[in-house]
Amino acid sequence: MYQYDEYDQTMIDQRVAQFRDQTRRFLAGELTEEQFRPLRLMNGLYIQLHAPMLRVAIPYGMMSSRQVRKIAEVARRYDKGFVHFTTRQNFQMNWPKLEAVPEILAELASVQIHSIQSSGNCIRNTTSDQLAGINANEIEDPRPWAEIIRQWSTFHPEFAYLPRKFKIAVVGSKEDRAATKLHDIGLHLVKNHEDEVGFEVLVGGGLGRTPVIGEQIRPFLKKQDLLSYLEAILRVYNRLGRRDNKFKARIKITVREHGINHIRELVEAEWVHIREQLKLDTKEIERVKQYFTKPAYEMDTADSDSHYADLLAQDKEFALWVKQNTVDHKIPGYRAAYVSLKKPGQAPGDITSEQLEVVADLADEFSFGEVRSTHTQNLIFTDVKQADLYALWLRLNSENLATPNINTLTDIICCPGLDYCGLANATSIPLSKGIAQRFDDLDYLYDLGDIKIKFSGCMNGCAHQSVGHIGILGVDKKGEEWYQFTLGGSSEADASLGERLGRAIPKNEVVDTVAHLLDAYIDLRHDDESFLMTVRRVGVDPFKERVYAENH
Ligand code: HEM
Ligand code: SF4
Repeated sequence: MYQYDEYDQTMIDQRVAQFRDQTRRFLAGELTEEQFRPLRLMNGLYIQLHAPMLRVAIPYGMMSSRQVRKIAEVARRYDKGFVHFTTRQNFQMNWPKLEAVPEILAELASVQIHSIQSSGNCIRNTTSDQLAGINANEIEDPRPWAEIIRQWSTFHPEFAYLPRKFKIAVVGSKEDRAATKLHDIGLHLVKNHEDEVGFEVLVGGGLGRTPVIGEQIRPFLKKQDLLSYLEAILRVYNRLGRRDNKFKARIKITVREHGINHIRELVEAEWVHIREQLKLDTKEIERVKQYFTKPAYEMDTADSDSHYADLLAQDKEFALWVKQNTVDHKIPGYRAAYVSLKKPGQAPGDITSEQLEVVADLADEFSFGEVRSTHTQNLIFTDVKQADLYALWLRLNSENLATPNINTLTDIICCPGLDYCGLANATSIPLSKGIAQRFDDLDYLYDLGDIKIKFSGCMNGCAHQSVGHIGILGVDKKGEEWYQFTLGGSSEADASLGERLGRAIPKNEVVDTVAHLLDAYIDLRHDDESFLMTVRRVGVDPFKERVYAENH
């Protein structure tokens, strides 16, 4: 991962000092609430239901073991001993004291972590694929490009006050593990007819109250033109984006109002002016790429490891975990292993300080001292020797971090909802726990296969419910919590928006409704057809009949 130079570190340290003074002045009554608000938001600090909420950026989700230990320490010392990983590879702290936040930021800055631009109307943390650099199908590693975007966008003076927040995601293979089509800009590394690698550029995706799938603005962009083209898009958006109405201010609305063709013309016209002066030089690209070189893999360890097959045969639980929670690696003899943050009974995405410390130790022992966070609110060790998997599994298991449920029904994406969030209409975490507990039977989960539940407590859609195979949205009806279901959404390469199932469901029937949907799927599916494929084939009506008949 990228290492700060002296200049980067000074900049981050200065920001901490500046915020320390701003907080001091606010607490001393020298700044009003209104004056302090934009200053705290520039540092990822919201004021929520019970306490401030601090969102901290993790560029492309990559953390060193040293950083993970520091996060654990900060969470223990200044919060309630846990943090929450989000869908954008960041983490949030839900209980810091306002007066402690400058100290938290100083501690994090000592290990090159910050919360700059993790809130506000600016370019947010650029996200990527958790399997970047290790996936055999990859066209190219997207991380150096995410890093180049990070360096360009951080403190970019022209884009500090955009009409609305702006999110970019970049992936390097055909599979999309970063929901790029639901971002303001989605970048796909692709090859053109001459076998040259560049970017396909999508624009205008987004979630929230008006979910939109991004559209292609350019099928192929040369790599050296990346920043100039992004700059051209942002300039057009900065000019045309609606500043009169916050709900219409995202680029998805700008694209809709003007049409993709018109936006494309404007972007291309802007681009002509800046293309030459913002060309990325090859040396700079290479400099950044050097931070993402391969770790010192041992070659051919798989051949010499006969023990692994025996362990798989002898230990059913281990075999299940390997099958469900680990994935192929481009280097023979290595696998990537997910750390499931979805143990039934726990809030999705939460991890305690003690568990984080274990993760840091395991990263040192088994995965070259690194760990990554994922879009699905889990963690992953990307470089584990096959021969070490058993030892890793034993340790994860003893910390409740080896639930073999990745990509199953209980691997729920969930926002904080009414438990923490001041904007929530309804509870989300307790109901996701309820769903995970009701269906806590591995045979049943494996039989159901890949089903993604995404559960948000309001239409802001932090948990991406509109692109869930099963989406659940909390709505308020005369002060009561109700839940709107959608079916058939996807945030992957085949992205689609879910379709409404019918009228909202009362709180006490949410878990039963999931059960009815699953029963209907089991009746309707063909052979090994997935839930999503079944919904796409038969539509929502058969599911609707089942749910509302049962609810009469
Ligand atoms: C209490 C904490 C949180 C608050 C106050 C909050 C606030 C918001 C708001 C106001 C929006 C809508 C923005 C818009 O439509 O322009 C939003 C969207 C979003 N938030 Fe959160 N959020 C919180 C926690 C989270 C968490 C925990 C996650 C991840 C699990 C998350 C991820 C997202 C994502 C992915 C979007 C959608 C972005 C899009 O529209 O494209 N947020 N959030
Ligand atoms: S979806 Fe709504 S309730 Fe959930 S975290 Fe986002 S803003 Fe809060």
